[in-house]
Amino acid sequence: MERPVTLEDLRRIAASVGERRGWDFSRVQDDRDPVPWDYADVVRRYLQPSSHVLDIGTGEGKRFLALAPHFGAGVGIDADPTMIQVARQNTPPSLVDKVSFEVVRAEALGFPDAAYDVVLNRHASVYVEEIVRVLRSDGIFITQQVGRRNTQNILAAFGWGPESYGEGWWQEMPTLVEQFQQNGCAIIARAEYDVRYWFRDVESLIFWLQSVPLPEDFNIEKHWRQVAQIITEYRTPKGIETNEHRELLIVQKRSSEHSKESDKR
Ligand SMILES: C[S@@+](CC[C@H](N)C(=O)[O-])C[C@H]1O[C@@H](n2cnc3c(N)ncnc32)[C@H](O)[C@@H]1O
Repeated sequence: MERPVTLEDLRRIAASVGERRGWDFSRVQDDRDPVPWDYADVVRRYLQPSSHVLDIGTGEGKRFLALAPHFGAGVGIDADPTMIQVARQNTPPSLVDKVSFEVVRAEALGFPDAAYDVVLNRHASVYVEEIVRVLRSDGIFITQQVGRRNTQNILAAFGWGPESYGEGWWQEMPTLVEQFQQNGCAIIARAEYDVRYWFRDVESLIFWLQSVPLPEDFNIEKHWRQVAQIITEYRTPKGIETNEHRELLIVQKRSSEHSKESDKR
């Protein structure tokens, strides 16, 4: 049987795992049960070589840049100037004419009406009216959100309930659906998964705890007992078990003809 983890072990690991750069979680060694969609695959289906695309809350831009071969021109925006600085550094010379990054808040996008064919938002706050305003008629909005039940057993070990992630980390899907419908959009698809997820090692768990917005800043001196409890209670042959909860929403702005038709009815 493995010996219980000590404060000394955890201090050493916490000091060794390093800090997150941008929203890069590639340091985390993980595994999950099969999931019904892959965000990038879903988005690619809606992109055309001529598409103008806006990515809201783009972070360090890596995921958006990876989609660039599939669209015509793209703008990534984020409220955090450091993220935008890193996103610009991450842009290869071959993409500088195609993809740009700007410090802009999602609440007031400042772009002209109907400027985009596709608007994306992965794990960031959704401001419906602004999204619909900048979408062209028939344009598509796609968002993946962290679900409120994500990593429930870990949050519970700290005494935090569901919904404990920082502001903007989860959005009430039924409310979003209603807001998009009220703003002249059709719901194309809505999906959800909640599957088993494993941190393969303690280093990955600690890196993650130090990197996600939680109700309190994670500090190993303060929180080590809870970490030790999580490791003891949830260690399995596959790793430390928790759950991954994600939601997906795809909406389409109705064309003006369609709106006129429905006005006549
Ligand atoms: C969890 S990260 C997701 C980053 C990226 N989309 C990804 O999936 O890797 C959320 C990002 O949204 C940005 N953000 C939060 N509130 C925002 C707002 N009101 N306007 C624009 N960006 C915002 C944060 O700075 C952060 O970079």
